[in-house]
Amino acid sequence: MTAIQDTPSFPFAREETYHPSPLYARLRKEGPISRVKLYDGKLAWLLTRHKDCCEALSSDRLSADRRAPGYPEIHPGGLKAREAIPTFVNMDDPGHAAQRAMLEGEFTPETVARKWRPVMEQVVDAVLDDFVAKGEAAAREQRPVDLVKDFAVHAPTLIIYRVLGVPDADVARLSRDSEIRNSTSRNAAETANLELQKYVGGLVKQKMQHSQELDANSDIISKLVVEQLKPGHLTEDQVTTLAFLVLTAGNAALINSIALGVLTLLQHHTQLADFQKRPEALAGQLVNEITRYHTASGLNSRRAVKEDIEIGGQVLKRGEGVICAVQAANRDAEIFPDPDVFDIHRPAGLRPVDCLGFGFGPHRCQAEAFSRTQLEIIFVKLFKRLPGLRLARAETELVYSDPKMNIGVEELPVYFS
Ligand code: HEM
Repeated sequence: MTAIQDTPSFPFAREETYHPSPLYARLRKEGPISRVKLYDGKLAWLLTRHKDCCEALSSDRLSADRRAPGYPEIHPGGLKAREAIPTFVNMDDPGHAAQRAMLEGEFTPETVARKWRPVMEQVVDAVLDDFVAKGEAAAREQRPVDLVKDFAVHAPTLIIYRVLGVPDADVARLSRDSEIRNSTSRNAAETANLELQKYVGGLVKQKMQHSQELDANSDIISKLVVEQLKPGHLTEDQVTTLAFLVLTAGNAALINSIALGVLTLLQHHTQLADFQKRPEALAGQLVNEITRYHTASGLNSRRAVKEDIEIGGQVLKRGEGVICAVQAANRDAEIFPDPDVFDIHRPAGLRPVDCLGFGFGPHRCQAEAFSRTQLEIIFVKLFKRLPGLRLARAETELVYSDPKMNIGVEELPVYFS
């Protein structure tokens, strides 16, 4: 085994299909707080142990502000994002907490169960109807159907449109843009992103013009317009930026969690059979394991040191960058025995909060309950409706996302039986 080069470049490339780079495991063992080199030549600390990531992500000595000295960017696009109007994702408290609170009511487990679950069920049923029709047509020609393009992309996208209050008449056009945004072509995706941002701005304006008739409880943009824009707590641009954040924050992570979750479950026949026997009872554990094992949003938990802090015996100095490798932390054997095994039956003592797939601390994903519920509904309905689902291609023949970016699979051809 070769020695770890002095300062490895980050992000690390996956070497095999969807499996995290083996460098994470080696660093967790040999140098759990190590320096890595970024694309711009700057250095940052990489934390690979669960307990160190939790400590860093809950410390107020670290900043999530992209403009703070030392904040580690992992590609040139980050510099552009730095110039945009910041949302609470990249603010520290108290500003962070104040803005996060504006949306909090829409994402509590109670609101998700009462208000959004029925919407999710309706959308998933409709998307499944289309998927089944496409799959049956493909089967007549002895072709597989693509679970990514024809299913995984649509369910989360259509759900978030409903949650934001996008009128039905606009959905078809926006969905085309969203397919492009989630595609591999960076240029096309950037253009589609700009278009979408413009669209959201127009929708905010339109809702503001009709604000007398708006019901703040019907959807998130209406809520922001009535409660924040009208009384002057936020500007129109800030509301647009927040709405755009909700639209895009978790879409790719949800799509990738669906596709990789289906792929992994179809590779583990005994666990699939267990799930199919008791889908409602096991859905929570299945989703927890998918978000642990794959960690579809593994590169976002980055911070800058505001005040010197000692973590795991290492002093991190003011102005240095810190990357919490939650994907590596999710494979830490201290918390997860046999961490590289996909196991939906992990011990009952393991709490969802232990899985760092949704981050940790004050910036932990605001839409965690929303996303978990959505994924549970999708897996239950998909496997009930299509019990004979099977892969049309082996894991090694699939095309995956850029090996240095978040884990994802571009296509997942399947047969229904
Ligand atoms: C499987 C799906 C998802 C995953 C794996 C995921 C993961 C994450 C992670 C790891 C963070 C923490 C980032 C950090 O440490 O700075 C985060 C934050 C956040 N996520 Fe998600 N997310 C998902 C879905 C969503 C969705 C659907 C939405 C919006 C509807 C969303 C909205 C947010 C927001 C607003 C934050 C920032 C919270 C804060 O800074 O206080 N996420 N998410």
